[in-house]
Amino acid sequence: MDGAGGRVLATGIDVSWAETAAIAGVEELRHDVARDEPPAGPFDLVHARLVLVHAAERETALRTMVRALRPGGWLLVEDADPALQPLICPDEYGPGRELANRLRTGFRQLLRQRGADLA
Ligand SMILES: C[S@@+](CC[C@H](N)C(=O)[O-])C[C@H]1O[C@@H](n2cnc3c(N)ncnc32)[C@H](O)[C@@H]1O
Repeated sequence: MDGAGGRVLATGIDVSWAETAAIAGVEELRHDVARDEPPAGPFDLVHARLVLVHAAERETALRTMVRALRPGGWLLVEDADPALQPLICPDEYGPGRELANRLRTGFRQLLRQRGADLA
């Protein structure tokens, strides 16, 4: 980015949110980071939060992000480690907490079936 003249590109496999949440100065692009070529850049910063955990082809996705960077650019990856705390409510008692933990277990199962690495 270069101050007021900078460029911000938001990508994802589903950018339908952009229709209702237009942000001035932010372009959006439907892009599968695990399958598509990197968007035209290069970029000073690539930031992915809670994205890699969803991609079965994590290494390809990581390479794509690196390829979008200018030499010396920064890659910031934030991701969840659901294996660290598999339960929402470690102290499970009562129907509400049981339901919350069941939902969490189901969500983890779904992620695993789709190729996520929960660790
Ligand atoms: C849990 S949401 C995180 C959204 C946002 N980054 C945040 O931190 O609030 C997961 C995001 O990953 C995106 N995503 C999942 N698989 C992807 C892929 N293969 N390529 C690009 N984006 C992907 C989804 O479109 C979704 O926006």
